[in-house]
This record gives sequence, structure tokens and C-alpha cells, in this order.
Amino acid sequence: MRVTTRPIEGQKPGTSGLRKKTKVFMSKGYLKNFIQSIFDATGGAEGKTYVLGGDGRYFNVEAAQTILKMAAANGAKRVIVGQGALLSTPAASHLIRRNGADGGIILSASHNPGGPDADFGVKFNGPNGGPASEAVTEAIFARSGEIDAYCIADERDIDLSKIGMQHIGCMEVFIIDPVADYARLMESLFDFPKIRAMFAGGFRMRFDAMCAVTGPYAKEILEGRLGAAPGTVVHAEPLPDFGGMHPDPNPTWAHELMDEMFGADAPDFGAASDGDGDRNMVVGQGIYVSPSDSLAVLAANAHLAPGYRAGLKGVARSMPTSCAADRVAEALGIGAYETPTGWKFFGNLLDAGRATLCGEESFGTGSDHVREKDGLWAVLLWLNILAERKESVGEILKAHWRKFGRNYYSRHDYEALPVEVANEVMDGLRARLPGLPGTDLAGRTISSADDFAYADPVDGSTSERQGLRVVFGDGSRIVLRLSGTGTEGATLRLYLERYAAGPDGLDQEVQAALAPMIRAAEELAGIRAVTGREGPDVVT
Ligand code: G6P
Ligand code: ZN
Repeated sequence: MRVTTRPIEGQKPGTSGLRKKTKVFMSKGYLKNFIQSIFDATGGAEGKTYVLGGDGRYFNVEAAQTILKMAAANGAKRVIVGQGALLSTPAASHLIRRNGADGGIILSASHNPGGPDADFGVKFNGPNGGPASEAVTEAIFARSGEIDAYCIADERDIDLSKIGMQHIGCMEVFIIDPVADYARLMESLFDFPKIRAMFAGGFRMRFDAMCAVTGPYAKEILEGRLGAAPGTVVHAEPLPDFGGMHPDPNPTWAHELMDEMFGADAPDFGAASDGDGDRNMVVGQGIYVSPSDSLAVLAANAHLAPGYRAGLKGVARSMPTSCAADRVAEALGIGAYETPTGWKFFGNLLDAGRATLCGEESFGTGSDHVREKDGLWAVLLWLNILAERKESVGEILKAHWRKFGRNYYSRHDYEALPVEVANEVMDGLRARLPGLPGTDLAGRTISSADDFAYADPVDGSTSERQGLRVVFGDGSRIVLRLSGTGTEGATLRLYLERYAAGPDGLDQEVQAALAPMIRAAEELAGIRAVTGREGPDVVT
């Protein structure tokens, strides 16, 4: 059935898909226009195979039913769907690759809260399993601005609870267990017997699934296959509103886990994941591991896991992520890459075999096993390293700093600012950049200052205006950029980094260690002065 429609403004995918208020997605034609734009902008759905699933948030199932009917009416050959329309983002990426699918549609607004008054999102991934490239998302947006009709089959809903094959017209709908293939992939990468032996020896862990999609994955893998004590995984059932939780694994939102890990009788290891399972936070007994440090430690120790025994080809990090991983890459004699924020920028490096491990300060870590960041993968790699080294998280982290020095690091977020105000801060600092190199600030000399531009070494494409960075001679940095994932006003992110070579000064409190950089940032950008805010809303 062909239904006429009119373009809807603002269907521009951000850092990670199109993310809007749930009610916007539920409004007339909104989802359908966008899905048709995806099909149209990627050469049509005729004869193609897709993977479909989401993080279980409110409207997940209804949206999946609509997309299935649209795929059928657009001539798709087959759609592989996670049972209950559930799939974590990394599991979807794996399924696209394993089945040689033409792409995948993932229903998620990642770590944003879910529910009728919260957020919903749609991400489109390409045949390599990774987020669509800028060129593709631009084409989808362009198409959304001229669309005049969409196609949808006038058929009954599919029974999404039933594993196996069903049909809409001649399109096959193949419903699969969302966990099975992913769990097998993890077993191929990590030493499950060794980790199982560690749990059997009394190792205790807490995994907070935050009422989101990793619950079933973590239960099956950690408790089921690795023998972690029953109850190790908490908030394990995916709920449409994530039980009112904000499923973002950082010290602010995963405070229950933080309290437990810093309390009396803390388990040996703690971890949390986000709405769609691609993010992770890792905590030791009384010690928090920043995502930037986590990437560096994983890079330095990955060879301890069977899947990475041959060594790494290179390590990539997003520009605002601390430079800790670069020092590991240098020591290993492998490539270090600095990309703009957004996992899609790692895709070419992974596809071309230049990088094996990637990571971002925004709680994302992953490798070339899929083309998304992967929360549980990071947790399992940590577990494998802990099982091999037989040291605590704290011991491993401290030994790492002694060897490589420590990149003190923190991100300060100023949320829901009026867009003009956020732009004023950015424009103010951008204008000052050319005059900064050679000047002194915070007792250091600024060695370079620019608006980060990236030239992809594989396909030569360029991305400009990816964040303002001020770099000091001692390796310390101040970075300022606007978030690309917010749904309300603008969010300004200030990333602060100070390098301490050691052996002294490796054990300071992070915010205290960064105090000179915090003052320098205010002097440079005047965030508080311009926004009138007294301080950041979230500190990670
Ligand atoms: C999503 C992307 C990440 C990115 C993050 C940053 O999670 O998948 O790759 O790092 O957004 O978001 P921001 O709000 O800083 O643009
Ligand atoms: Zn996510």
C-alpha cells in the first residue's frame, strides 16, 4: 500500500541515529517517513536482508511491527528480528555481519531515558555492521526533506514472541534468540573456562543492567555460562521505562553500583551497561576506572585473552578521550588514531585492519569483533585479564600508571543550555584559538590550539569543526565541544586532562589534580560567565 505523505522537518540523524521525544516518533507519519527515507536513500529495500531489534524501551514493539510491514511493502527479502523485538546494539552489529545482511535498524535512544514522555530513537547500520557513514546519514536526511509517499503492507502484526520463520506477504521474518549468537561470539574471544574457574574460586561481581537490554545477555553469559553467583546481575529485566532509571553507566546515574563498590563488603568487580548495551562502566573495589583508562589498560593487556593473543594492529580513540591509550600504542609499537566523536569514525580503521581496539571517553569500548562499541565485551575482557593476572582492579590500574604515567581526566557537562548561549561560548573560544599557541596558562605553555578536523586515512573523507582543543606542552589538554546526542537545547562538554609522568603524584583526587585545568578552561572559554551557570550538571 502506497500512502502519500509530506516531509517532516528535522529528521536529521545526530551522533548516533535519529533521537527524539517518544511522542514525536509516535506522531503521525514520523517513524514511517524516516524509515522510508532510509530505504529510499540506500537504493531501496528490494531483495534485501535486514536485522531489526531494539533496547525494549516504550514504543519498541509497535515501531518494530511498523518497520516489518514497511520492509515487506518495499520488497525486502528477509528481516532477522530478535525475539520480543529485542537486540542489543552490539548483538545487532554481529548479526548483520554474520548473516551478510544489507543493513540493520536498531530502535534505541541509547542511554537516554525511555517512556512515553522520554526519548526514542532509530539507528541505521550498514552492511559492515557499523553505524551508517556521514554520507549515508546525509542522504537519508536529504530524502526526508523531499519524501512524498511511503509503502506499508496492510497485514496483521507478527507474533514477535515466537522463535522461527513467519511471513508478511513473501517477506521472511526470522525471529531468533537475541542472545545465542552473541554469546557464542564472546566464547570465541575469551577464555571462559579460566573466568569460570575464577568465579568458582569465590570471585564476586555485580553487574547493573539498569533495567535495559543487557539484562538477558549478562544473565546468560555471566551467571549461566560463567557461573557467577545467581543475583550477580541486578535490574536484569528490560522494562519499557527502564524502571524509571536513567540507563547511562556513569558514576552519576549508576550510583547504586558506585555505592556498593565503594561500600563495606564490596564485590571484587563491578560493571554497568546502558540502554542498548553498547556502553560500559567498570569499577573495582573502592576504585573507579575512567573509560579512557579502561581503554589504555585493555590495550596493554588484551593479548592475555585468546581472541587478541596475536597482538593488536592499532588503537583508536575519539579526540576528547584522554591520550592514555596513545602511550600504550607507542610502547607496543602499533598505530594510534585520533578520530572525531562517534563510533562510526572507527569503522574504516577497523574494516581496513588498521585498528583492533577502539574507545571513547563516553563509556564506549570495543574491537574489530563487531562494528559497534560493546559493553559486555569490555566487561568480559576485563574479567579475562583479571583471571590471568590474578590481581585486583586497583592493583592493575596503579601498575599501569606507574608504567605509563597517569592522564588525570574528567568531563564536565553543562546541559540543556539555550542553543545561542552554547554557541556563544564555542564561538568565543574559537575566535581566540589562533592567538593561543606560545602563550602561558595554568603554569604551562600552550603548544597548539585548533578546531579539530579529521581526514580519514582510509577513504580520505574529511570532517571539520569536531571540537575545540587546547594542548599544553606537558601533554595536558582542554577540549570543548557540543554534544550531538541531546534532545533538549544544547549540551556543552568540557573535557579536562592533565598528564602526570610519575612516579610521584599518581594518587591524587581527580578533580583536585585537575584544578589548574579547570581554572584555565574558565579563563579561556568563560563558560560560567557566559552561561550564568555555577558549575556543571554532570561530572564524569
Ligand atoms: C553516542 C555514540 C558515541 C559517542 C557519544 C557521544 O553514544 O555512539 O560514539 O561518543 O554518543 O555523544 P555526544 O553527546 O558527546 O555527542
Ligand atoms: Zn548506547
